[in-house]
Amino acid sequence: MSNILIAPSILSADLAHLQEDVDSVSKDADWLQVDVMDGHFVPNLSFGAPVLKNLKTKLPLDIHLMVENPEERIEEFLELHASNITFHAEVIEDATSRKALIAAIHDGGATAGIALKPGTVLSAIDDCINDVDLVLIMSVEPGFGGQEFIKDVLKKVRALREKFPALMIQMDGGINEETAKLCIEAGANNLVAGSAIFKAKNRADMIKKLRGDS
Ligand code: DX5
Repeated sequence: MSNILIAPSILSADLAHLQEDVDSVSKDADWLQVDVMDGHFVPNLSFGAPVLKNLKTKLPLDIHLMVENPEERIEEFLELHASNITFHAEVIEDATSRKALIAAIHDGGATAGIALKPGTVLSAIDDCINDVDLVLIMSVEPGFGGQEFIKDVLKKVRALREKFPALMIQMDGGINEETAKLCIEAGANNLVAGSAIFKAKNRADMIKKLRGDS
């Protein structure tokens, strides 16, 4: 059994049957990723905490905040006992504010992640890399599911893994059976997939394939 974590993204789920869709992946997945989009930082508008209020799942909730003001959004997800909350490096650029947000997420009982869009260089997070628990390297421009994997970001993953052998490196966007292998080879150990899982005929099987278990 590989140690790669697989996090289905509910952005690609049938939101009219969210509980059933989440149940269909709960046995085999490791985390459940919730893509929170505000229509400003990214062009799409998705959902917020209310959608999760009645959702029943044992999967750790992984909140990916694609929002301009993450510091104003974390409370509602901490109240839902989010396991991880990731914000984007591009929306908070000074070290003090980033460290304060990371501390607030930790104080609320969650791990803290920082995300980089494909075009953002690794050095952009030098000032807080030792404070976060996870780095999310986006392999698509954030905002929509079903996009093409951007291979160029694999260089960033390799460089990050080289420098931080024990860091949790998550990748997200265009991940399928073929690109998952590239991500794992580059050093990612946590993969987010939306369409590859929720559009698969056999979701459990797809999760195992992405993890490299079958
Ligand atoms: C994109 C989201 C991704 C997306 C992944 O902004 O952050 O999580 O839902 O969807 P797929 O796996 O279909 O690219």
